[in-house]
Amino acid sequence: MPAQILDGKAIAAQIEQEIKAELEELKSKYGVTPGLAVVLVGENPASEVYVRNKGKKCSDLGINSIVRRLPESASEQEIIDAVQQLNEDTSVHGIIVQLPLPKHVDPEVVISHIDPSKDVDGFHPVNVGWMFIGRNRFVPCTPAGIIEILDRSKIEIEGKRAVVIGRSNIVGKPLSILLLQRNATVTVCHSRTVDLPSITRQADILIAAVGRARFVTADMVKEGAVVIDVGINRVDDKIVGDVDFDAVKEVASAITPVPGGVGPLTVIMLMRNTVQATKMRLQRSQ
Ligand code: GUN
Repeated sequence: MPAQILDGKAIAAQIEQEIKAELEELKSKYGVTPGLAVVLVGENPASEVYVRNKGKKCSDLGINSIVRRLPESASEQEIIDAVQQLNEDTSVHGIIVQLPLPKHVDPEVVISHIDPSKDVDGFHPVNVGWMFIGRNRFVPCTPAGIIEILDRSKIEIEGKRAVVIGRSNIVGKPLSILLLQRNATVTVCHSRTVDLPSITRQADILIAAVGRARFVTADMVKEGAVVIDVGINRVDDKIVGDVDFDAVKEVASAITPVPGGVGPLTVIMLMRNTVQATKMRLQRSQ
């Protein structure tokens, strides 16, 4: 039987309604409109698309959106100065630095200058550390969105064998921690993993976050597995995931499509983190 298609767009729309209600309460009770600032360095075409999508979602929801653009030639210190200005701006509740940054800039150094209470990407070492010890503050948006897809589709995580392909700081590593928090047995695979298919075939929940088009083939997937595809790859003017969707959907019990799977969740979780940052500031000031 072909797999159930996990409709990320519909799940994101549901969460969007919940966020709208929270935004109305923030406005009516406290007169506060959240502000989200994006620091965008250079002119990476993919980043331009992501930032445009984030700005559009902000305007749909009535969140103030600020884009601080810097040229490709900006120095690390100039980027840090821009971040620090946003740290001090009380109209800004959330800050993200769009990645990747130009090669001459160390992203970890820049991120470490974001005020952790405004770090809505959840990339600051302080927030990463809180998550590592199970006391989540800001959780990175894509991993948080994947957990929402599983939960809202009533897919049990506890006790399941989860295999994550990819160990990035943005997706693979934080997702492995979240799955562990939910009592999955987690294996993280990467480019040096020996005999990857023998490991992916053990997965009840298989997550592909490798950034290689149609990398996960049907022979790598156990019958009845849940497959989550984080990939966004351009092939001949078409966007495809890290999973060979057409073949794998015949083996899996459930699968996210690309586009329309994980992507819509990432943006909406950023909005939710921005609302959370706003509420946390209100609590601190009371
Ligand atoms: N580049 C790709 N994904 C992300 C993300 O989630 N946040 C930021 N800041 N940059 C990214």
